Amino acid sequence: MDFAEQQSQASLPSPLARAGQLSFWLDLNPDLPISVAPLARTAPTTLPGLVEARRHAADTIAEGYFQTVPIIPRSHAGRLAQAISGLVQRGIPPIFCMVYDAFWQMFAPLDPVLRELLGERYQMMPTDIWAWHVAPQDNASGWGPHRDLETPQAIGTDGRPRLLNVWLPLTDVSPLNACMYVLPQHLDRSLGAEGEQKELDLNDWQNIRALPVPAGAALGWNTHVLHWGGRSSTRASQPRISVGIYFHNRDCDLHEINPDTARAGFTSLDFDPGLQLPFEARLQAIAGAIYMYNRRVPADFPDTWEHIFQFARQYKRN
Ligand SMILES: [Fe+2]
Repeated sequence: MDFAEQQSQASLPSPLARAGQLSFWLDLNPDLPISVAPLARTAPTTLPGLVEARRHAADTIAEGYFQTVPIIPRSHAGRLAQAISGLVQRGIPPIFCMVYDAFWQMFAPLDPVLRELLGERYQMMPTDIWAWHVAPQDNASGWGPHRDLETPQAIGTDGRPRLLNVWLPLTDVSPLNACMYVLPQHLDRSLGAEGEQKELDLNDWQNIRALPVPAGAALGWNTHVLHWGGRSSTRASQPRISVGIYFHNRDCDLHEINPDTARAGFTSLDFDPGLQLPFEARLQAIAGAIYMYNRRVPADFPDTWEHIFQFARQYKRN
């Protein structure tokens, strides 16, 4: 960006100028409440898939990840995807969807799976959240191949994850709009016994697994699994819109196992109906998330990224 462009961006009104006002968000989406306790009300859910909790846990122990059937109704997923698209059209990153209760609630139907894998009273760190809008065009993609956290402490001795990344798409996701790909851990010869990565050995490309999923179906993976979002295509009929939250078992201290100043001032909270996340705390959590995952914000929001970072500086907890 040259000087003239910087000047013009600085003079544009910030789409987040009124972000600190509850009324701004409620005016944008009058049907999406913002309360103190986002899980106090039950999410609209399509429950039948959840009898599979044990199978999802077994899959995760064996292959490093699980995939559910849709856990929220298609119409609800569509409404939430539309809310994220509305933010993006205003130059506001998708992660700001987390001001609304519904984006926390939609993970609640996974409770039986999360309890099976992480134990009773599992937790989440409010800053460990992100959301994506990958446009249906050739130059758009999800995040490149990586492992979320390679430390051996991230998986228990029984093979159950101590940290679990759960990813919930709100649109149908296929290889044409940047679906997730994994190298299942039982096929991953570059994964050491303690999660460390040896030189990547991909001489058998058939081990790569694409994970197309319908809107509202969750994927979850342990932090050792190699995974990535694909590249989108002009052949795609819709964007890939999704939200991710890290969950962890309650004896897992993220400040200790994965220190990051982005989490300063936050402690992990039980993810249950008693969860308290008032509006101001959500803004601070979003600011923390932007500190943690900001790498692609300037490219994704060329006209507003300075305003976005200004918001993050203003609201980050110390
Ligand atoms: Fe990841």
